Amino acid sequence: MRASLKFKFIMIRNLLFLLAFTAVSFPVFPGEGMWLPSLLEKYNIEEMQRKGFRLSAEDIYSTDRPSMKDAVVRIGGCTGVVVSERGLVLTNHHCAYRAIQSHSSVDNDYLTDGFWAMTEDEELPNRGLTVTFLVRMEDVTERVLSVLDDGMDENQRQAAVNIISGILEDEAVEGTRYNAAVNSFYFGSEYYLFVYDVFEDVRLVGAPPSSVGKFGGDTDNWMWPRHTGDFAFFRIYADDENEPAPFSGENVPYRSPVHMPVSAGGVRENDFTMVFGFPGSTRQYLTSHAVDMLIRMRNPHSIRLRDERLAAMGREMERSDTVRIKYASKFASVSNAWKRWQGENRGLERLDAIERKRAIERRFAEWVEGSPERMSRYSGVLPGLDSLYSLLEHFTLAFDYGQEALYAIEAVRFVNDFLRLTETRTDLRQGTDPARLTSVLSQVSGNFFRDYHQPVDRRIFSMMLTMYRENIDEEFHPAFFGEVTTGFDSDFDRFADHVFSESAFVTPRGVADLLYVLEQDAAGPDLLEDDIFVRIVGDIRAVYNENVISEWNSLNDQLTPLYRLFVEGLREMEPERAFYPDANRTLRVAYGQVRGYYPRDAVYYNKYTTLSGVMEKNLTGDPDYNIPDRLRELYDAGDMGRWTVNGEMRVGFIASNHTTGGNSGSPVINGDGHLIGVNFDRVWEGTMSDIMFDPAKCRNISVDVNYILFITEMFAGAGHILEEMTILR
Ligand code: ARG
Ligand code: GLU
Repeated sequence: MRASLKFKFIMIRNLLFLLAFTAVSFPVFPGEGMWLPSLLEKYNIEEMQRKGFRLSAEDIYSTDRPSMKDAVVRIGGCTGVVVSERGLVLTNHHCAYRAIQSHSSVDNDYLTDGFWAMTEDEELPNRGLTVTFLVRMEDVTERVLSVLDDGMDENQRQAAVNIISGILEDEAVEGTRYNAAVNSFYFGSEYYLFVYDVFEDVRLVGAPPSSVGKFGGDTDNWMWPRHTGDFAFFRIYADDENEPAPFSGENVPYRSPVHMPVSAGGVRENDFTMVFGFPGSTRQYLTSHAVDMLIRMRNPHSIRLRDERLAAMGREMERSDTVRIKYASKFASVSNAWKRWQGENRGLERLDAIERKRAIERRFAEWVEGSPERMSRYSGVLPGLDSLYSLLEHFTLAFDYGQEALYAIEAVRFVNDFLRLTETRTDLRQGTDPARLTSVLSQVSGNFFRDYHQPVDRRIFSMMLTMYRENIDEEFHPAFFGEVTTGFDSDFDRFADHVFSESAFVTPRGVADLLYVLEQDAAGPDLLEDDIFVRIVGDIRAVYNENVISEWNSLNDQLTPLYRLFVEGLREMEPERAFYPDANRTLRVAYGQVRGYYPRDAVYYNKYTTLSGVMEKNLTGDPDYNIPDRLRELYDAGDMGRWTVNGEMRVGFIASNHTTGGNSGSPVINGDGHLIGVNFDRVWEGTMSDIMFDPAKCRNISVDVNYILFITEMFAGAGHILEEMTILR
């Protein structure tokens, strides 16, 4: 009797549990959400503390006293964390990749060998790389909304928002060295002002060889179990007042008021973790129609186009080391989204995302019908979104092919940039000094050719155009397609031979000659029109920029106000629930717990990996798992110094934090506010979290600080870097 009652109780409990997790809504699951640091006190701190956070919301974000946020920086498109009082910044190897590559050559190959400055004098400056701190943020919704009224159409509204934003930004930074930006949240329902401090002299301090920092390469990218030592060090430099300054030999290491202590104690199951960083973009509120379009059309086409581009690059990279270095960064970035889209599609299908979104929409529609006020405010929302998406379908594929095929041709992008400069920089073009224009152009051209290998691009050219012609309506075909049909037997290969031998834009010599002529003749730009690549780009612009992009943008502009109402309605429908806004490159906190997961039936993935796993993968013989001899020596000798946890050398770990692109390099922080890892990826089964988060499968991947410390000290012999840091057990 007892037993059966208990059984019933368990059944009911399980059922409730199941219901809770299949609830028809946008439920906020444990781990889901990217929260604004200034709102933690209001929405999150209690839950965080229940999960094991032992500090206060003020410790994370405060404008009255130093707080954790003063150690978190945006660096390039990534995040980083300050880990010493001398402005030392820890981020990912893949975030430093371009910087490392730019200092590399075949003879001095820091990508392959790693780079370690043994003194501050040896630290390498990086043009264009900046580090940004958030000084403060402020809710300015009321002030922005006060200049808007319901009679405005979306363009008028946006214009008004821009004006008031400009005023608020100026006001916020007046008399300071800071920058400010007003960002929109929930599609323009709320606005926040962010004040930033930007440092321009950022130097490379250390990076492991790719065989550590990119161990597993593209084979392991977006996957767990992972063994990548994806980290690198930079240093912020300032002038003698400790203020930002352009690069100068006189600059000194930035004296950081706050740096994050490191905890080398190792993670355990269910430990509290938080990720503090600058996530780029998510689309949590997409409707079923949009998700359907993504799964069925956008992702599959984009994946196929990138298959071809990757094959074209890969083939030439295998043949020559010079090409390998030139294309390393391009290849990694093309392959990154290519692989994510594949995981995302599988994840969305497995979650039955379209049906779940439909269920939300049905519930929303019912709720709207529940009152006349709601009817008058929201009844147009879903039908409006639906009909806009129907119109968008037609342009979306062409839009994607423009990005992923036409502008995937490197020379098309180059010629386009080149022309834009000659067209828009009238200051340079007109007047008496054509030399000014040509010097800018020759710089652009120098940058382009440094990493260009014509055979790769020629192949991309013919493949991309062939696929464009096959998949995109004739009305969107650039005019030169006609010439290919009549003059080249419809064969883009033959056309490519012709174009690449005729155009001046595909060799440094050709461009140099062109610039010479331009410089002799101030009216020169007209002369460009005879070049075949200029005609090609002109045709592409004529059809793509004018017919596709403009329509696509205008339809998307019409989506915004509908989404604004949709999300406003959802929030009204569920007033007790804490919603979080889509990522938009502003500083956010995600929190969760260290936890393994079941990637598929009967298979369980442990929460951390170890150095033994590196050796295991190395034995497969796959070149992505090549390792430096020194690493094997240390492993064989059991020489891991102070950095083992229970006798093991931990490499990476996973936790249930909600992260996205831009969170790379984000500090992963324990319940005491100490750094335990650096975020760099998500697991394959959870890559759909930009659109739909699944607490059972979404995990962020971090490199364990123990591995960072071990590699830096024992492998690279750069123990002096550790001496700057505050390391706790
Ligand atoms: N997937 C990670 C991120 O989105 C790492 C990318 C770099 N690594 C690579 N093998 N391509 O950025
Ligand atoms: N690797 C990504 C980045 O560069 C982070 C992974 C993700 O998208 O979660 O930001």
